[in-house]
Amino acid sequence: MSNKILVTGGLGFIGSHVVVELQNEGFEVVIIDNLSNSSIDVLKGITAITKKQPIFEKLDLRDKTAVIDFFKKDQDIIGVIHFAASKAVGESVNLPLLYYENNLNTLIYILQELQNKETSNFIFSSSCTVYGQADSLPITESAPIKAAESPYGNTKQIGEEIIRDTCKVSENLKAIALRYFNPIGSHESAKIGELSIGTPQNLVPFITQTGIGKREQLSVFGDDYPTKDGTCIRDYIHVVDLAKAHVAALKRLIDGDNTDNYEVFNIGTGKGSSVLEVIKTFEEVSNQKLNYKIVDRRAGDVIAAYADTTKANKVLGWKAKLSLKDALISAWKWEKGLN
Ligand code: WQD
Repeated sequence: MSNKILVTGGLGFIGSHVVVELQNEGFEVVIIDNLSNSSIDVLKGITAITKKQPIFEKLDLRDKTAVIDFFKKDQDIIGVIHFAASKAVGESVNLPLLYYENNLNTLIYILQELQNKETSNFIFSSSCTVYGQADSLPITESAPIKAAESPYGNTKQIGEEIIRDTCKVSENLKAIALRYFNPIGSHESAKIGELSIGTPQNLVPFITQTGIGKREQLSVFGDDYPTKDGTCIRDYIHVVDLAKAHVAALKRLIDGDNTDNYEVFNIGTGKGSSVLEVIKTFEEVSNQKLNYKIVDRRAGDVIAAYADTTKANKVLGWKAKLSLKDALISAWKWEKGLN
């Protein structure tokens, strides 16, 4: 029986950490990546950790013929974890067609191939961004899906609908969408982590780059929100805990334990932390003051978002184990290793 898993975007931040956990669990891994937002060095990092080099194929999933040829050539893939997508919220506002083509066409081409297989297991990288500003906190999977604030967020919403509708007419296709909250940190070995190409858009890489001196100062986007200290609240989850959630979801599908052939889970810690709390924790971890200033709010930011993880805890048997401090220690170790 094959145990071969395809990980698209497997050289990316989350994808590479999932590859490590899959190999730790004995799966054979094939990575497809077009290297548009990652580096071939990540393959070395994965191999250095697991001592097993995954099969790698440089391929752009927007090339439909290439996707068809790939699945024709490699018939014994039993599961696909699909990370390959563009993910910069701000960029998506300026380049909507790039995001709709890259994030949706690639999903459609893969699903078209999986539909033809006897049985297939599909895990989709979704995001809490589909909830927008939820009406109540913590956010459950039954919270209403709000109008997306960006084309990026819209591609996650539409992506989930495409999978749901396809699963309705393809009993052989079983799928799980994992709605990530805010992934941060890196593998404890610091051999893989978050590679920020260009100016980091996300909070934690900007903090660590400021801490190491690569950035002059962190701008905190607003401290006049209706929260405990005026700054936005998010659910920051260690990327290794997030990676383990993917293995739990995949095993659920392979073992046939799923009660519906399309299921959705929130993957977070269940705890909210403010921007200033993250900064304070980083200062403890790095034993240095962080240079930051308060500036205007960033358009599109929600006030607060943190997960109700009851469903993933109960149904997947998965729970986040690592703390915000653990994640920041690993992020800081990674940043120092880069420099
Ligand atoms: C977190 C908080 C900012 C940078 C986004 C996507 C989400 C997912 C994760 C892909 C906010 C504040 C940030 C800075 C700041 N991406 N901040 N100064 O926006 O919650 O989520 O990234 O899957 O889909 O929406 O994450 O890290 O950008 O921001 O003050 O330089 O940090 O205002 O309150 P976000 P983030």
